[in-house]
Amino acid sequence: MQATSFIWQNNTIKPWQEATTHVMSHGLHYGSGAFEGIRFYKTANGPAIFKLSEHVDRLFYSAQVMHMDIPYSQEQICQAIINTVGINQVESGYIRPLVYYGYGAMGVCPSPTLPVETIIACWPWGRYLASDSVDIKTSEFIRIHPRSTVADAKICGHYINSMLAGLAIRGTKYHEALMLDEHGHVAEGSAENIFVIKNGKIYTTALGTILEGITRNTIIEMSKTLDLELIEKRFGLEFIYGADEAFFTGTAVEVTPIRSLDDCIIGEGKPGPITEQFKAAYQDIVHGRNPAYQNSLTYVIDHMTGGV
Ligand SMILES: Cc1ncc(COP(=O)(O)O)c(C=O)c1O
Repeated sequence: MQATSFIWQNNTIKPWQEATTHVMSHGLHYGSGAFEGIRFYKTANGPAIFKLSEHVDRLFYSAQVMHMDIPYSQEQICQAIINTVGINQVESGYIRPLVYYGYGAMGVCPSPTLPVETIIACWPWGRYLASDSVDIKTSEFIRIHPRSTVADAKICGHYINSMLAGLAIRGTKYHEALMLDEHGHVAEGSAENIFVIKNGKIYTTALGTILEGITRNTIIEMSKTLDLELIEKRFGLEFIYGADEAFFTGTAVEVTPIRSLDDCIIGEGKPGPITEQFKAAYQDIVHGRNPAYQNSLTYVIDHMTGGV
């Protein structure tokens, strides 16, 4: 795969094929990295990055959980992300900043002398799941326990949990896995938060065992303007089986309606009116068509600089 021409690596823009790393890097052996997934969209004013500062805040939070000092400021990383999108001349797509412990002393607990490697790549990326309205299945794997790790950090090693849940449904008719917590409460998908609509109210899983999705927070903000009551709480599978509508949220999946869970059709088995409303309103926001959300967009053309 060579998706775009350039990758930003440790403060240098390199040709895609030359952005390589040492096989003895700590992050490769122990999953000691943190990353983000950010989308940028085609707008009337060129590509715009959605919620850039929120993603960079979370990247620094995730790194700090592993006592990792990213050798750049948040402003420098934001600027490097903008420049990486700009130099690649892509209208819309996905951005992957990644920080990880590099090559140096071996041993599980990272030595303070280890270098911190930083890369930023971007590429055009369309729909993430294989369908616009998904059939999902409860996973045998529970979501990582909040006392086994810092569950709300976006750490590379955490994704073995998501990967195993995803692999378990590979080759089946299901598009995505849903993970429960250790008490049987619904947690989240392998890379998505979940929302449920019942009797005109909208529910989402409480924080604690999940990644605090930036899209989840956008939906919470939006529910206020759409005048819908939003409740964050713990609920079990039965609550979703009996729901009127359900949808996943995430940077990659945006707002994706859920058609069925464990073969139980949700509502009428087609995207419901409230889900459709959120989906359309979200697209307006990210494409710069909602003036109230202009602050959530970073227009590349306005901020790109010559340096990295
Ligand atoms: C486990 C998990 N939950 C939820 C999400 C959604 O988060 P966001 O909306 O910030 O993309 C992601 C995104 O990658 C994720 O990996």
